[in-house]
This record gives sequence, C-alpha cells and structure tokens, in this order.
Amino acid sequence: MIGVFDSGSGGLTVLKALRETFPAQRFVYYGDHGNAPYGNRDADTIYALTVASLARLFELGCSLIVVACNTAAATGLRRLQQTWLPAHYPDKRVIGVIVPMVEAMSGVPWATGLDSRSRSGEKKTVAVFATRYTVESRVFVEETKKRAPHIDLVQQACPSLVRLIEANAPVHDLRRAVRRYVALLLRRLGGQPLDAVLLGCTHYPLVADLFEEVLPDGVEIFSQPQVTSDSLVDYLARHPEFAGSEDSGITFYTTTSPGPVTELARRFLGDDNVRFLAPPCANAMVHVSR
Ligand code: DGL
Repeated sequence: MIGVFDSGSGGLTVLKALRETFPAQRFVYYGDHGNAPYGNRDADTIYALTVASLARLFELGCSLIVVACNTAAATGLRRLQQTWLPAHYPDKRVIGVIVPMVEAMSGVPWATGLDSRSRSGEKKTVAVFATRYTVESRVFVEETKKRAPHIDLVQQACPSLVRLIEANAPVHDLRRAVRRYVALLLRRLGGQPLDAVLLGCTHYPLVADLFEEVLPDGVEIFSQPQVTSDSLVDYLARHPEFAGSEDSGITFYTTTSPGPVTELARRFLGDDNVRFLAPPCANAMVHVSR
C-alpha cells in the first residue's frame, strides 16, 4: 500500500496522476488539513507535523510514502530518510516531489555536480512559485545549482494561496492573488525574458489555468503531478517490493472535519465515491495552534 501525504488538499493533484498511472494500486491519502497551511510555519513545527503524519501512514500499513508536499519535503527529506526512517521504520521508504521536478526541468537526472554536461547548457531563467517556507529553504535553488548552474532560478513566495485554495475561495479572489504574485515576479525580473515556471507547491496545479492567464506567452509551466507519477514508475521498476499486492482503491484520511474536504476532493477528482474519514485513533493526532 502506498501513502500519499500533503498538508491538505494539494496532494490530491498528485494522487490524481498516480491513480491514472497505477489503476491497480492501493493508495491511502492523508491530508493534515487540521494543521494546514504548513508554508507559513517554522521549520521545527513543519518537521514535527510531517514526521507525525508519516508515522500515521506507516501505522496504517503503508510501506512507501510519496510526500506530495514541497513544504514538508523542504524541511529536510534527506535528513528524514537518513536518520528518522532507519531509526523508526527501517523497512519503509519515503520519496518526494522536489528532486523529480528539478530533474525534469533541468534535463539532468542525477546530481552530477559541476561536470561538463551541466556547464555546457544554454543560459535560462526559470521561476519557481512556492510557499514562503519552501522559498526560504532555497531547496529548489540548491537542487538546480547542483545539476544546472547555468539556470538562473528566481523564487516567488505566494503566502496566501494555499489558504485561499483550502478555503474554497471564489475564483476572482484566487485570480487576484495569482496576478499579484506573477506581477511581483515579473517586476523583479525587470524585462529579463522568462523561459519556464515551476509550480513548486502541489496546491498550485489547482489554479494552473490562472497562472497561464497571466504568464507571458511561450513560458513553459512544469507542475508536479505528472513528473511525480513518472518518478514513481521509475522507482517501482527498481523496487517492485513496494508496489504491494492488495486490491486497488483509495482510502482518504483528514485531520479536520471531513465534509468540506470531501466536497472539494469529489469536485477535483470527478468522483462522488470519495469520502474523507478521520484516521483511526484520531485522539493520537497532533494539532498545533496557527
Ligand atoms: N501542498 C503543499 C506544498 O506543496 C502546501 C504547503 C502548505 O500547507 O502551505 O508545499
């Protein structure tokens, strides 16, 4: 059984692509809506919430978890993989969404350092839109620099966007927010041409059309659902033991009241059978103040 984790509903964008690619696979989706958004919180809190959520998913029987949340991954997915996992769940695995995205954008699949291939690339300007925490962590900048130092990665934080999406805000509010963030970025670029954009938060594919409306023509937009699904295909080919052999299907858990979350998920996934549940032993859940 494969777990898909996000702070809220953004991971549904990744789950949708996974469901299409792996129709026979059993998934469990876990949205920590009760503590979302993570992106305006500090590193220690995000890390603690992430670890608690991953532990819940492992206790529910997952052997592999896709962390479909950039903000959670930005607090130190590598640290988590190298220390927390071996200490607590040595047979389980966790994979993220940031490195596959940078690999897809840069065309450099492995961290090759400053080798001749990376140096020889064409100069490019790429923008990443992400939560405040992801931007402050500079994880996209560092992962890009390792693979393709000729790419100038410009970051733009969008601190209100996840909250608006989670609140099911009217489209004109979402459009206003997206326009403001794109305008801030373009002003900083001061006329320098933009080649591509990364939507570096799994919530943003839900408003990808609004980004498209205002980005200059010809700017390529990379978003994580398909990239993550391709990377899982590759991972399971190398580690088939994590594919699981249960019946297909998806169970949805949330740490908030299931009603409104279920409604958004049904609309987004186009599936009236979706029903979010409270995780078993809900009293063991972690809640921190906003
Ligand atoms: N979907 C999460 C991400 O990819 C949103 C983070 C948040 O809760 O602010 O970063």
